[in-house]
Amino acid sequence: MDQTRIQDRSGAGEPGLAELNERPPSHETRIKGGVATPTAHDSGIKHVTGAARYTDDELELPGTLQVFIAMSARAHARITRLDLAAVKGAPGVAVVLTAADIPGQNDYSPVFGDDPIFPALEGEAAVVQYVGQPLFAVAAETELQARAAAKLAAVEYQDLPAAISIDEAIAHADEAGEDLLPAYEMRLGDAEAALESAQMRAKGRVEVGGQDHFYLEGQIAYAVPQEDGDIFVRSSTQHPSEVQHNVAKMLGVPDHAVTVELRRMGGGFGGKESQPALFAAVAALAATKTGRPAKCRLDRDDDMEMTGKRHETRINYDLGFAADGTIIAADFEQVVRCGYSRDLSAAIADRAMFHADNAYDLKAARILSRRLKTHTVSNTAFRGFGGPQGMVGIERAMDEIAFLTGLDPLDVRKRNFYPAIGEEPAATPYHMKVTDSVIAEIVEALEASSDYRVRREAVQAFNAKSPILKKGLALTPVKFGISFTTTHLNQAGALVHVYKDGSVHLNHGGTEMGQGLFVKVAQVVAEEFQIDLARVKITATTTAKVPNTSATAASSGSDLNGMAALNAARTIKDRLIGFASERYHVPPEQVVFQANRVLIGNMEKRFSDLVGEAYLARISLSSTGFYATPEIEYDREKASGRPFYYFAYGAACSEVVIDTLTGEYRLLRADILHDVGKSLNPAIDMGQIEGGFMQGVGWLTTEELWWNDKGRLMTHAPSTYKIPTANDRPDDFRIAIWEKGENRAETVYRSKAVGEPPFMLAISVFSALTDALIAAGEGRAFPRLDAPATPERVLKAVEDVRGG
Ligand code: MTE
Ligand code: MOS
Repeated sequence: MDQTRIQDRSGAGEPGLAELNERPPSHETRIKGGVATPTAHDSGIKHVTGAARYTDDELELPGTLQVFIAMSARAHARITRLDLAAVKGAPGVAVVLTAADIPGQNDYSPVFGDDPIFPALEGEAAVVQYVGQPLFAVAAETELQARAAAKLAAVEYQDLPAAISIDEAIAHADEAGEDLLPAYEMRLGDAEAALESAQMRAKGRVEVGGQDHFYLEGQIAYAVPQEDGDIFVRSSTQHPSEVQHNVAKMLGVPDHAVTVELRRMGGGFGGKESQPALFAAVAALAATKTGRPAKCRLDRDDDMEMTGKRHETRINYDLGFAADGTIIAADFEQVVRCGYSRDLSAAIADRAMFHADNAYDLKAARILSRRLKTHTVSNTAFRGFGGPQGMVGIERAMDEIAFLTGLDPLDVRKRNFYPAIGEEPAATPYHMKVTDSVIAEIVEALEASSDYRVRREAVQAFNAKSPILKKGLALTPVKFGISFTTTHLNQAGALVHVYKDGSVHLNHGGTEMGQGLFVKVAQVVAEEFQIDLARVKITATTTAKVPNTSATAASSGSDLNGMAALNAARTIKDRLIGFASERYHVPPEQVVFQANRVLIGNMEKRFSDLVGEAYLARISLSSTGFYATPEIEYDREKASGRPFYYFAYGAACSEVVIDTLTGEYRLLRADILHDVGKSLNPAIDMGQIEGGFMQGVGWLTTEELWWNDKGRLMTHAPSTYKIPTANDRPDDFRIAIWEKGENRAETVYRSKAVGEPPFMLAISVFSALTDALIAAGEGRAFPRLDAPATPERVLKAVEDVRGG
């Protein structure tokens, strides 16, 4: 009877379904793996043994072609000649693809229509706009043949003026009288007047560098031609519906002719929100032209040169405050480096503004955002989606206010928090009242558990005696808005089948990128049916089962898909209740689902037995489910509304030591207290908090993107681009989920989103470095420090504060 056993998902000797169904049920009081249990990631063991299949692990069909994308060597140039004759004649080449081969629209952009798949061959559009931009593609029998063939192209360029840095971007935009996207402003009260009247001012600038996603699995797509010109695409994407739509648009066919599927990504981090459409489109084009399956898989260097990153941002701040550190007004100017096209930059730059206040009541504010074009990769979504950049501005200002007033930075921060729940709420710069703030309570708790005050004194004592090594300490808060700020995206669908043996097939529009979304949603379904998690089969995301999905992004994957799946399961459960009530003549309230069984009056049945009976009685055991986040609305014209359903909160305390002779530093200890509401899965949430924090540490300290003056990215591999390793994890790392957490908004089981918010806890490390630098200068000067605070930058800052 082996076939009836459901596949063992953990690989660790869990019972199969047949065994579960044979067991007398009534001894069980609680299902295994329900909501709130710290169940391991459904693929955890498979991730580490290599049994988890990624797109490249799926068997290739016979005849599969490998696609290589040739890239522009110039930052901004007209293409005066593109001769591909030698490429076409090279060994193993099946097809060479250019803009001329595209039957539909030559565009893979998410919103604005300005991302060409390939540049036009002649006329106005025969230009390239960054080094690494796709020029043409070669599909050959092997990847090496495709690469070798591409080198035989004869390409001639006529260079055009290029803007690479933010300064060049400003100059170009001012000269042209036009930014890439219109500037945008938020206003609360009369900030100018309040600033004029302020007792004290803190004015400064901080530059925040970009970040490469460095997903372990690079961009990849595999396209298989079907009958009638249809196409099936496996794509490593956070946004299957958008890939589907872009492939269809490119081929000039309806969306229904394209099916996109993926089981999992090896990391996305926002880098697979809009960009996978390019690789899927190229693979689909090769497959359509040749009638053969085609795979497009980037190697690391090509991936880093070709794909967009976090937006580098310059923030000018001007805060007015009282001598006790109370802010009375704030002015921020954010200059955002978008790259060559618009991509998601409008929404990302907006989110930077939505988080310019972080956790603080600014009372009066003006936030101005400029979105500028550079001739570099088109920057895109990255964990936090602009929020992190916005927050660095205000946290930097907090450190400066503390320096100017002589107060402890933690006291300045605490003085300015949004009022707590129950107090008179204050408004954000976009006029949303903050009614769920628990930041004061969390910070209070972390201040105690991290021993902040005692360690502050210890750090001072250490620094007094240590001329070369200097320590720094900082405790910073995070408040992060949850919902897509583009309101219509806050919707999700699911599809649930209950098979007649009582096993469940779960599908929804969310995608798995390692964050644990699938296991969380499966726990929700298991809980609703009151069956063990092992009975719920997690399945690949496909546009054929759930249509018109939003990207798995904005941390809202489990909020949205969890609710949609819950609604689908509830529909089936209601039908089962109706059936049992009628069949056994008991009122519906007396049909109760409980730990793998159903109580029907004073009778008890296995879940699987009731399902079998319902099947014979011709009850539908399959349902879709849908969810749309309630209560949100945002008027972008007026820069006013409630873009977020709720806020997630957290705080971190970091201690660093710097070597003032070399600029090198270590993160000695980090304490984190984070609010996930009522956790759906504390094990997964802990992983997200730890991983998010460390990824943020990489962004603010060692991950440096450096383009040369010709616009070539010089840090395009781990040899020159340094992400944190296990060795950079602080030896003393204390992470806790806030036990009192509970979402006041009616989310799935009152949980809170956790994917992005912990990323910004890493700002505590940047502030701790600032604190150590102040000590290095004996408190004489506030150090100028930009991110990433590489050892070179820290050393430079030491020299600055010491007046050297
Ligand atoms: N965690 C892992 N392991 N891998 C990822 O790619 N992406 C992050 C975050 N955590 C990511 C991750 C980003 S950018 C987002 S928006 C959320 O997960 C998306 O998933 P969720 O909405 O299910 O939290
Ligand atoms: Mo996350 S940046 O919203 O994919």
